[in-house]
Amino acid sequence: MSRVLIAGCGDLGTEAGLRFAAAGFAVSGWRRSPEKLPAPIEGAAADLADAGLPPVPADTDVVVITPAARERSEAAYRATYRDGTAHVLDALERDGVHPRRILLVSSTAVYGDADGGRVDELTPTDPASATGAVLREAEQLLLARRPDAVVLRLAGIYGPGRTRLIDQVRSGAAVVRPGQLTNRIHRDDAAAALVHLAGLADPASLYLGVDDEPVEQAEVLAFLAAELGLPAPAADPDAGASPRGGNRRLSNARLRGSGFTFTYPTYREGYRAVLAGTGVRHP
Ligand SMILES: NC(=O)c1ccc[n+]([C@@H]2O[C@H](COP(=O)([O-])OP(=O)(O)OC[C@H]3O[C@@H](n4cnc5c(N)ncnc54)[C@H](OP(=O)(O)O)[C@@H]3O)[C@@H](O)[C@H]2O)c1
Repeated sequence: MSRVLIAGCGDLGTEAGLRFAAAGFAVSGWRRSPEKLPAPIEGAAADLADAGLPPVPADTDVVVITPAARERSEAAYRATYRDGTAHVLDALERDGVHPRRILLVSSTAVYGDADGGRVDELTPTDPASATGAVLREAEQLLLARRPDAVVLRLAGIYGPGRTRLIDQVRSGAAVVRPGQLTNRIHRDDAAAALVHLAGLADPASLYLGVDDEPVEQAEVLAFLAAELGLPAPAADPDAGASPRGGNRRLSNARLRGSGFTFTYPTYREGYRAVLAGTGVRHP
């Protein structure tokens, strides 16, 4: 049996791990609180920021690096993503384990503002934030040491338990930013994309993980309000651009072209599932 090692095994990593297990893999999950991991994921306590990682199981065939920094600071990002990636690669070398595939979950925060234009894997990166720049460093470090690795840059994840926008619409706190585009992917599709990319015979080194429909944030809020039977939140002309920055239309053409199909191709199917209570957020 082949094994997948998921380094930084939180909500996305656990969902991916359960899907790998269903596909016949043994699954190991590394995180600081491994007791939170459900069977059949075999947990081990590991802090990716530390060089002394646990032994890598000798039968590891696929590695997925997907921790999330606790806070949005440059130092936390450096320790978690860049140092964490380096430490995983060091542990593989130390233990003489040569996985067939290494996948790193990154973020579309590595892109700059595109003024509403199309962005794909060929678009040059231009992170607007120090944290985005660190993610880019982690990608570069990985691809320098393992040129055959695969980076998956995810757009905004939503899904079970991630109800920030829904809560804002319910409470009347939603801020409508006219003209602001958002790009998103359901947690389950992000997890399925990791399993898909692990199985490709000859993948590219980079994929965008985003659904079919870049959309104005106002449209998503109006949709949620309609689903909830509430009036659409009013536009706030003074709201300005999103503090997260980056008005762009991300393309999933490469991911789709590799044979991937979405369970939730747009926010409509995805948010309907969230509103219906489908799935759980893994702790
Ligand atoms: N949220 C978004 O919209 C978004 C957008 C683009 C990309 N992403 C990326 O998506 C990925 C998955 O995020 P998620 O939603 O699954 O996050 P999550 O649920 O917060 O899980 C992240 C996990 O990382 C573990 N972790 C953090 N620091 C660690 C460390 N130093 N050593 C070992 N484990 C560590 C945490 O477990 P312990 O605390 O037990 O260690 C946690 O379970 C991340 O790579 C994130 O950057 C997210």
